[in-house]
Amino acid sequence: MTTFDQILPRVAEVLRDYAEMIPTIGPILINRDLNGRIRLVVGEPARNHPTAKQAIDAIACELQERLGPHAYPAENAVLFESDLDSVCAGATSFLLEGFEGVKVIDRLATEGNWASIAPESTGAPRIVFFSIKGGVGRSTALAASAWALAQAGQRVLVLDLDLESPGLSSALLPEERRPTYGIADWLVEDLVDNGDTVFEDMMATSTLSHDGEIYVVPAHGCDPGEYIAKLGRVWMPKMRSDGARETWSQRLSRLIDALETRWQPDVILLDSRAGIDEVASSCVTDLGAYLVLLFAIDGEQTWSGYRVLFRHWRKSGVAEAIRERLQVVGAMIPETDAAEYFADLREYSADLFREELYDEIPPSNVAGEQWNFDASDEGAPHYPWAVRWHRGFAALRSLHTRLESIDAQEVNTVFGSLIGNLAYTVANEGAEHG
Ligand SMILES: Nc1ncnc2c1ncn2[C@@H]1O[C@H](COP(=O)(O)OP(=O)(O)O)[C@@H](O)[C@H]1O
Ligand SMILES: [Mg+2]
Repeated sequence: MTTFDQILPRVAEVLRDYAEMIPTIGPILINRDLNGRIRLVVGEPARNHPTAKQAIDAIACELQERLGPHAYPAENAVLFESDLDSVCAGATSFLLEGFEGVKVIDRLATEGNWASIAPESTGAPRIVFFSIKGGVGRSTALAASAWALAQAGQRVLVLDLDLESPGLSSALLPEERRPTYGIADWLVEDLVDNGDTVFEDMMATSTLSHDGEIYVVPAHGCDPGEYIAKLGRVWMPKMRSDGARETWSQRLSRLIDALETRWQPDVILLDSRAGIDEVASSCVTDLGAYLVLLFAIDGEQTWSGYRVLFRHWRKSGVAEAIRERLQVVGAMIPETDAAEYFADLREYSADLFREELYDEIPPSNVAGEQWNFDASDEGAPHYPWAVRWHRGFAALRSLHTRLESIDAQEVNTVFGSLIGNLAYTVANEGAEHG
């Protein structure tokens, strides 16, 4: 019996058998619908072209045979369309591996497809903190990074986009300073064109900043209110007055642009959701990230999760658009046998990048579009920036209280590699943009 993962390989098999006929048919769209069933969409002229029609009917029969429940019955498996571009509009699509004129149109029930990579935003660099697993110290590291960047005189805008398990803002803001509203409030108000009502009251500055400034935009306000009812609506797309549809991720982008214009930060830190999740997809791929930090603890779960993602990027043909923005962060490096642990982590990470994202050219080479790095190259995206496990940060009742009394040396011991590299990257990015 055919299962989902065999759909595309089998479609490719069938099409290979009819390879000579494909040019007569013209471009072919493989529509994989919401239920994972396949239909072919071809140009209108093929309908009245005898050889093309014959070939397409034969392909449809063959697909029904080989795909079983994942194919439409041959008699209604082919759609003839005069405008193929409009069929692709708004859907995830990618070329079928090994074919020039065959495109897969993949209809997903969620909007987060991980495979449309927005170009880098032109303003302050946006840095996304992402991890496959939760509880790896990602939000803590983000708070410490904000603290350090502000300490160095930067204006840092921090957004808590981990809407389902918010926590970042409590690390940076004491209870009494929290703003009235948060990101979830703006997203629901925006649905009824009422975003401006909450916009000014969804940000508070942190008392932790001395020389610079930390602007914190939490997931919810000081009183979460009907948070669950709001959460159930934040993902809604919006129909604009001109009839255009805006996805929730585009709405979020619009919010971040507006916050950037309002608060004029030098750098924007985004706390994403963990895992291969729809909101995480938006943070990593849709918000114009300059840098995506991939928090990793050594273990099968982390690496197999990242592999799924990297492979998806490769197969959907977007690896080149995203890979230069990636950077692995080694999270909670243990105190004992730290060097050995780090070496293992680095090896796993190097293997993964080599197998999924690097090009097959000699390492330490960036030849035109080609891209590869040596396993021991400290400047490589797979080479982990380190965050150490530290007793002083384990099971904290209040990270805010902790950060209030912390000194630079202690922050450096734990987060030094991450913070140093971040500061360097941000400074260079600033220089690039003039
Ligand atoms: N470097 C660290 N060393 C030890 N414990 C840490 C460290 N960073 C975070 N923690 C603790 O780990 C737990 C999870 O941290 P958190 O930052 O909320 O993780 P995440 O955002 O990845 O879910 C918290 O109890 C926190 O105090
Ligand atoms: Mg977190």
